[in-house]
Amino acid sequence: MSEFRFEIKARDAAGRIGRIEVNGKKLETPAIMPVVNPKQLIVTPKELKKIGFGIIITNSYIIYKDEKLKEEALEKGIHDLLDYDGIIEVDSGSFQLMRYGGVDISNREIVEFQHKIGVDIGTFLDIPTIPDAPKEKAEDDLKITLERAREAEELKNIAMNATVQGSTHLDLRTYAAKRLSEMNFEIHPIGAVVPLMESYRYKDLVDIVIASKVGLRPDRPVHLFGAGHPMIFALAVAMGIDLFDSASYALYAKDDRYMTPEGTKRLEELEYFPCSCPVCSRYTPQELREMPKEERTRLLALHNLWVIREELNRVKQAIKEGTLWELVDERSRSHPKMFAAYKRLLEYKKYLEENEPITKASAFFKVSEEMMKTPVVLRAKTRAKKVKEKFSKTMRHPIFGEIPKYLGLSFPFAQSEGEEDFVIEKPSKDEVKFYVQAVAEYQFGEGASEAFKDVFVELSRKTGMPRQIKVKGKHIATFRAEDGLLTLGIEGAKRLHSFLPYPRMRVVVNEDAEPFAKRGKNVFAKFVIDADESIRPYDEVLVVNKNDELLATGQSLLNGRELKIFQQGLAVKVRRGIER
Ligand code: GUN
Ligand code: ZN
Repeated sequence: MSEFRFEIKARDAAGRIGRIEVNGKKLETPAIMPVVNPKQLIVTPKELKKIGFGIIITNSYIIYKDEKLKEEALEKGIHDLLDYDGIIEVDSGSFQLMRYGGVDISNREIVEFQHKIGVDIGTFLDIPTIPDAPKEKAEDDLKITLERAREAEELKNIAMNATVQGSTHLDLRTYAAKRLSEMNFEIHPIGAVVPLMESYRYKDLVDIVIASKVGLRPDRPVHLFGAGHPMIFALAVAMGIDLFDSASYALYAKDDRYMTPEGTKRLEELEYFPCSCPVCSRYTPQELREMPKEERTRLLALHNLWVIREELNRVKQAIKEGTLWELVDERSRSHPKMFAAYKRLLEYKKYLEENEPITKASAFFKVSEEMMKTPVVLRAKTRAKKVKEKFSKTMRHPIFGEIPKYLGLSFPFAQSEGEEDFVIEKPSKDEVKFYVQAVAEYQFGEGASEAFKDVFVELSRKTGMPRQIKVKGKHIATFRAEDGLLTLGIEGAKRLHSFLPYPRMRVVVNEDAEPFAKRGKNVFAKFVIDADESIRPYDEVLVVNKNDELLATGQSLLNGRELKIFQQGLAVKVRRGIER
C-alpha cells in the first residue's frame, strides 16, 4: 500500500494550508495540478516542476486508448513516460463520459491500469451528472458511482480520488460525501462542476461545495475538479478547497486568452500587460501578437501558469496573515456573479463559524458592508451580547456599535480598522480585572470569569495595557498584547478546569500521550480520543486524560469536530504541562 498523509499547518476562514505526502513526495496545499496532455506538451512536465508545480494531472484513459502511449506507460511507468519526478495524479475518463456520453472501458480495467503504470494518485470511473439533471437521473448515476467506489476500494493499493457527485441536488451531494467518507479513500474531489463554472454559475458552485464539505470527513483534502482559473482560488480556498487542476492555462493560450486574477482578457485587447512575470516583462502585447502562433501559445501558457502560481501564493499568504476574507471580498468585485457567490457563501453561517479561527495575525479591515457578515464579526457580536449580561458597562465602537466596555481591548474590537478612527482607552487600575474577567467569559464561555475573580493584573509600564495576570504572586495567565485574548498558564488552566464543567474546552488524550503532554510536549491528532465540539481553531484549550485530570494547556490547531476525526498532524501546540 502506498503511503499517503495529509495534515493541516495553518488556517483562515474555512481554508487551510496543509501538507500532503504521497510515496515520499511532499506537497503544500492549496495546490494546483496543471493538466498535462500526453499527446501534446505545450509546456513539458519538467518545466512545470521548475516553475514550482510539484503535482500534475493527466488522463489515464487517454493513455490507455493510445496503443503507443499505453505500451510505453506499461513498460517504463508514467513518471518516465512524462519525464516528471513530482506527484502524478490521473483521471479516469469520467470527464470524457460527461462530455461525450460514454467511454469503452470498465471501472475495474482503468483502476487496474492506473496501478500498473505507477501513478501516485488514481481516480476511479465516477459518473459525473451534469447540473440540473432530474433528481432520479442523479440518484441512479450516484448509485453506480457508489458501487464503483466499493469496487475500487476493494482493488486499490494506491492513493485514490473518490469524487462527490449528485448534480445540483444538494441533499445528494451531502449524501454522497458521507458515504464516500466512510470508505477508504485519500482525496475527495467535487465533480461535474465544470459546466457551472463555464456559465458563471458561481452561486450554485458555492451551494454544491458547501453541501459536499459538510458531508465529508474534514481530514481529507478536497479537490475542485476542473477549477483552474485564478479568479476562483480565494473564494474556493475560503470554502475549504485544497486542490485545483487547470487545463485552461493551455486551452486559453491556444485561444489567445490571457489570465489575470480578476478574469480573462483577450490578447488583442491588451495594450499593456498588467503582470511582470518573465513573459510579460520581456515582451509587449504587440510583440506577442506578431509572433508565430506556436511560440505565442507557449508564451501565453507560461504567463497563465505564472499568474496561477502567483494567485495561489497570494491566497496562502492571506491564510498566514488572517486576511483571506479581505482577499475574497476584493476578488469578488471582479465579476457580478462572483460577488453573488461571495454573498451566498456568507449565508452559510454555521459552517463558516465552526471553521473560523478565534484569533488572527492581522486586524479586521472593514473594507465593505459584506465584511460585517463574515464569521469573525458575527461571532464577536454573538459572544459580546452574552458577555453584556454580566458586564453591562458599554462603549461605542465605530464599527461594532455598542459593545461591552471591558471587551474594548480584545479581538476584533481593538484590532480593527474602519473609516473612523477610535481611541483605545487604557484601563484604570480599579477596572483592569474586569477586562480580564470579561475576556475570559468571551473566550471560554459562560462561567469562565469565576476563575479570574481574585486576580491581580500587572499593567505594562510602557503601554499601560494589561499583561501578566497573577494570584498571590503566582502567574496564572497572560493578556496577549497582539489580540487582547488570554493565554493560560498552568495555574490558570487548573482554575478554569475546576470552574468549567466537562467537556468544556477539553481535549481528551489517551494514555500514550499522557506523559508527554504533562511534560509540555505537543499533542498529535492521533492521540486525541474526544473533544469539546465547541472548540474553534486557535482556541486555548485544556488537555485532559479520560478521567478529566488536567495534563496541559495549549493552543488547538483544530476545531472540536476535527479533533475527534484527524489522525495525522498536530492537534494542540502545548504551552505548559502540569509537570513543566
Ligand atoms: N474532471 C472534471 N469533472 C470531473 C468529474 O466529475 N469526475 C472526474 N473523474 N473527473 C472530472
Ligand atoms: Zn505575465
